[in-house]
Amino acid sequence: MNNIKVERLLVNYKTLEMFKRFKEYGNQELSMLEDLESNIIENDSESPFFGIYYGNALVARMSLYKVSAKYDQYFNPPQDYLELWKLEVLPDYQGRGYGSALVKFAKEFQLPIKTNPRINSQTFWEKMGFQKAKYNMERDLGENPLIWTPKGVAEQSVS
Ligand code: COA
Repeated sequence: MNNIKVERLLVNYKTLEMFKRFKEYGNQELSMLEDLESNIIENDSESPFFGIYYGNALVARMSLYKVSAKYDQYFNPPQDYLELWKLEVLPDYQGRGYGSALVKFAKEFQLPIKTNPRINSQTFWEKMGFQKAKYNMERDLGENPLIWTPKGVAEQSVS
Protein backbone atom coordinates (compact mmCIF):
# COMPACT_ATOMS: atom_id res chain seq x y z
CA MET A 1 0.00 0.00 0.00
CA ASN A 2 2.84 2.38 0.79
CA ASN A 3 4.14 2.53 -2.75
CA ILE A 4 0.93 3.98 -4.25
CA LYS A 5 1.89 7.20 -6.00
CA VAL A 6 -0.67 9.91 -6.73
CA GLU A 7 0.25 12.32 -9.52
CA ARG A 8 -1.26 15.31 -11.24
CA LEU A 9 -2.46 14.36 -14.71
CA LEU A 10 -1.42 16.38 -17.71
CA VAL A 11 -3.76 17.05 -20.60
CA ASN A 12 -2.50 15.14 -23.60
CA TYR A 13 -3.95 12.65 -26.07
CA LYS A 14 -2.66 9.68 -24.09
CA THR A 15 -4.36 10.76 -20.84
CA LEU A 16 -7.59 11.59 -22.65
CA GLU A 17 -7.57 8.16 -24.30
CA MET A 18 -7.14 6.52 -20.88
CA PHE A 19 -10.03 8.58 -19.46
CA LYS A 20 -12.36 6.70 -21.83
CA ARG A 21 -12.05 3.62 -19.62
CA PHE A 22 -13.80 5.44 -16.75
CA LYS A 23 -17.59 5.37 -16.38
CA GLU A 24 -17.80 9.05 -15.57
CA TYR A 25 -16.42 10.18 -18.93
CA GLY A 26 -18.39 13.20 -20.05
CA ASN A 27 -18.43 16.87 -20.96
CA GLN A 28 -15.38 17.77 -18.91
CA GLU A 29 -13.18 15.30 -20.80
CA LEU A 30 -14.69 16.19 -24.18
CA SER A 31 -14.08 19.87 -23.62
CA MET A 32 -10.45 19.16 -22.65
CA LEU A 33 -10.07 17.21 -25.91
CA GLU A 34 -11.59 20.06 -27.96
CA ASP A 35 -9.34 22.61 -26.26
CA LEU A 36 -6.31 20.46 -27.05
CA GLU A 37 -7.35 19.89 -30.67
CA SER A 38 -7.95 23.59 -31.28
CA ASN A 39 -4.72 24.60 -29.52
CA ILE A 40 -6.61 26.56 -26.83
CA ILE A 41 -4.53 24.60 -24.36
CA GLU A 42 -1.05 23.25 -24.93
CA ASN A 43 -0.13 19.60 -24.94
CA ASP A 44 0.85 18.55 -21.39
CA SER A 45 -1.01 21.41 -19.66
CA GLU A 46 -1.97 20.70 -16.08
CA SER A 47 -5.47 19.29 -15.60
CA PRO A 48 -7.62 19.34 -12.46
CA PHE A 49 -7.23 15.54 -12.36
CA PHE A 50 -4.96 13.49 -10.14
CA GLY A 51 -4.47 9.80 -10.74
CA ILE A 52 -2.70 6.56 -9.99
CA TYR A 53 -0.92 4.46 -12.62
CA TYR A 54 -0.44 0.72 -12.50
CA GLY A 55 2.42 0.19 -14.92
CA ASN A 56 1.48 2.39 -17.88
CA ALA A 57 -2.26 2.23 -17.25
CA LEU A 58 -4.24 4.86 -15.40
CA VAL A 59 -6.37 2.87 -12.93
CA ALA A 60 -7.79 5.51 -10.58
CA ARG A 61 -8.50 9.20 -10.77
CA MET A 62 -10.24 12.16 -9.16
CA SER A 63 -10.75 15.82 -9.95
CA LEU A 64 -9.94 18.53 -7.43
CA TYR A 65 -10.81 22.20 -7.68
CA LYS A 66 -10.09 24.92 -5.16
CA VAL A 67 -13.17 27.05 -4.51
CA SER A 68 -12.47 30.56 -3.24
CA ALA A 69 -13.50 31.55 0.30
CA LYS A 70 -15.87 34.18 -1.09
CA TYR A 71 -18.06 31.41 -2.52
CA ASP A 72 -17.88 29.19 0.55
CA GLN A 73 -21.35 28.26 1.82
CA TYR A 74 -20.26 25.19 3.78
CA PHE A 75 -17.54 25.96 6.31
CA ASN A 76 -17.05 28.14 9.36
CA PRO A 77 -15.04 30.32 9.21
CA PRO A 78 -15.66 30.68 5.45
CA GLN A 79 -12.48 29.73 3.63
CA ASP A 80 -10.98 28.24 0.50
CA TYR A 81 -12.04 24.63 0.14
CA LEU A 82 -11.63 21.74 -2.28
CA GLU A 83 -14.40 20.33 -4.41
CA LEU A 84 -13.66 16.68 -5.15
CA TRP A 85 -15.44 14.87 -7.97
CA LYS A 86 -15.06 12.00 -10.43
CA LEU A 87 -13.33 9.78 -7.88
CA GLU A 88 -13.29 6.42 -9.60
CA VAL A 89 -11.21 3.27 -9.53
CA LEU A 90 -11.42 0.88 -12.51
CA PRO A 91 -13.33 -2.30 -11.54
CA ASP A 92 -10.34 -4.69 -11.65
CA TYR A 93 -8.40 -2.43 -9.30
CA GLN A 94 -11.05 -1.68 -6.66
CA GLY A 95 -10.50 -2.75 -3.06
CA ARG A 96 -6.71 -2.31 -3.20
CA GLY A 97 -6.47 1.03 -1.43
CA TYR A 98 -6.35 3.27 -4.51
CA GLY A 99 -9.56 5.15 -3.68
CA SER A 100 -8.43 5.85 -0.14
CA ALA A 101 -4.95 6.88 -1.36
CA LEU A 102 -6.56 9.56 -3.56
CA VAL A 103 -8.74 10.85 -0.71
CA LYS A 104 -5.74 10.90 1.65
CA PHE A 105 -3.83 12.92 -0.96
CA ALA A 106 -6.69 15.45 -1.15
CA LYS A 107 -6.77 15.77 2.66
CA GLU A 108 -3.07 16.59 2.75
CA PHE A 109 -3.80 20.06 1.36
CA GLN A 110 -5.33 20.71 4.81
CA LEU A 111 -8.35 22.44 3.31
CA PRO A 112 -11.95 21.38 3.91
CA ILE A 113 -13.35 19.11 1.20
CA LYS A 114 -16.81 18.82 -0.29
CA THR A 115 -18.00 16.05 -2.59
CA ASN A 116 -21.24 14.71 -4.05
CA PRO A 117 -21.11 10.96 -3.58
CA ARG A 118 -22.38 8.46 -6.08
CA ILE A 119 -25.15 6.18 -4.89
CA ASN A 120 -23.83 3.18 -2.95
CA SER A 121 -20.48 4.68 -2.05
CA GLN A 122 -21.70 5.85 1.40
CA THR A 123 -19.69 3.26 3.39
CA PHE A 124 -16.49 4.20 1.58
CA TRP A 125 -16.95 7.92 2.38
CA GLU A 126 -17.82 7.21 6.01
CA LYS A 127 -14.58 5.23 6.31
CA MET A 128 -12.77 8.24 4.87
CA GLY A 129 -14.20 10.42 7.68
CA PHE A 130 -16.72 12.34 5.54
CA GLN A 131 -20.15 13.23 6.85
CA LYS A 132 -23.37 14.53 5.38
CA ALA A 133 -23.61 18.32 5.27
CA LYS A 134 -26.78 19.58 6.92
CA TYR A 135 -29.25 19.85 4.06
CA ASN A 136 -29.90 23.39 2.86
CA MET A 137 -32.43 23.41 0.05
CA GLU A 138 -31.40 26.69 -1.56
CA ARG A 139 -27.79 25.63 -1.64
CA ASP A 140 -28.02 21.87 -2.19
CA LEU A 141 -31.24 21.45 -4.23
CA GLY A 142 -31.03 17.85 -5.50
CA GLU A 143 -27.56 17.17 -4.13
CA ASN A 144 -26.57 15.37 -0.94
CA PRO A 145 -23.11 16.75 -0.32
CA LEU A 146 -20.59 15.15 2.01
CA ILE A 147 -17.93 17.18 3.75
CA TRP A 148 -14.63 16.64 5.54
CA THR A 149 -13.01 19.29 7.74
CA PRO A 150 -9.48 19.58 9.05
CA LYS A 151 -9.03 20.43 12.75
CA GLY A 152 -10.35 23.84 13.77
CA VAL A 153 -12.91 24.08 10.97
CA ALA A 154 -16.64 23.68 11.59
CA GLU A 155 -19.66 23.43 9.36
CA GLN A 156 -21.66 26.60 8.68
CA SER A 157 -24.96 26.60 10.49
CA VAL A 158 -27.94 26.45 8.17
CA SER A 159 -30.25 29.43 8.49
N1 COA B 1 -18.89 -0.23 -0.28
C1 COA B 1 -18.44 -0.46 0.97
N2 COA B 1 -17.17 -0.31 1.37
C2 COA B 1 -16.28 0.06 0.43
C3 COA B 1 -16.66 0.29 -0.91
C4 COA B 1 -18.03 0.13 -1.25
N3 COA B 1 -18.46 0.33 -2.47
N4 COA B 1 -15.57 0.63 -1.61
C5 COA B 1 -14.56 0.63 -0.73
N5 COA B 1 -14.99 0.29 0.49
C6 COA B 1 -14.19 0.20 1.71
C7 COA B 1 -13.10 -0.84 1.58
O1 COA B 1 -13.58 -2.11 2.00
C8 COA B 1 -12.04 -0.32 2.51
O2 COA B 1 -12.34 -0.60 3.86
P1 COA B 1 -11.20 -1.06 4.91
O3 COA B 1 -10.24 0.09 4.99
O4 COA B 1 -11.97 -1.29 6.16
O5 COA B 1 -10.58 -2.28 4.31
C9 COA B 1 -12.15 1.20 2.34
O6 COA B 1 -13.48 1.42 1.87
C10 COA B 1 -11.13 1.76 1.36
O7 COA B 1 -11.16 0.99 0.18
P2 COA B 1 -10.27 1.22 -1.10
O8 COA B 1 -9.62 -0.06 -1.51
O9 COA B 1 -9.37 2.39 -0.91
O10 COA B 1 -11.44 1.58 -2.14
P3 COA B 1 -11.36 1.59 -3.74
O11 COA B 1 -9.97 1.74 -4.22
O12 COA B 1 -12.13 0.44 -4.28
O13 COA B 1 -12.15 2.94 -4.06
C11 COA B 1 -14.39 3.60 -4.78
C12 COA B 1 -13.50 3.10 -3.63
C13 COA B 1 -15.84 3.68 -4.31
C14 COA B 1 -13.91 4.99 -5.20
C15 COA B 1 -14.22 2.63 -5.96
O14 COA B 1 -14.51 1.32 -5.55
C16 COA B 1 -15.06 2.96 -7.18
O15 COA B 1 -14.69 3.78 -8.01
N6 COA B 1 -16.19 2.31 -7.34
C17 COA B 1 -16.95 2.49 -8.55
C18 COA B 1 -18.32 2.81 -8.43
C19 COA B 1 -18.91 3.01 -7.08
O16 COA B 1 -19.01 4.06 -6.52
N7 COA B 1 -19.37 1.97 -6.51
C20 COA B 1 -20.04 2.02 -5.28
C21 COA B 1 -20.44 0.63 -4.89
S1 COA B 1 -21.56 -0.07 -6.02
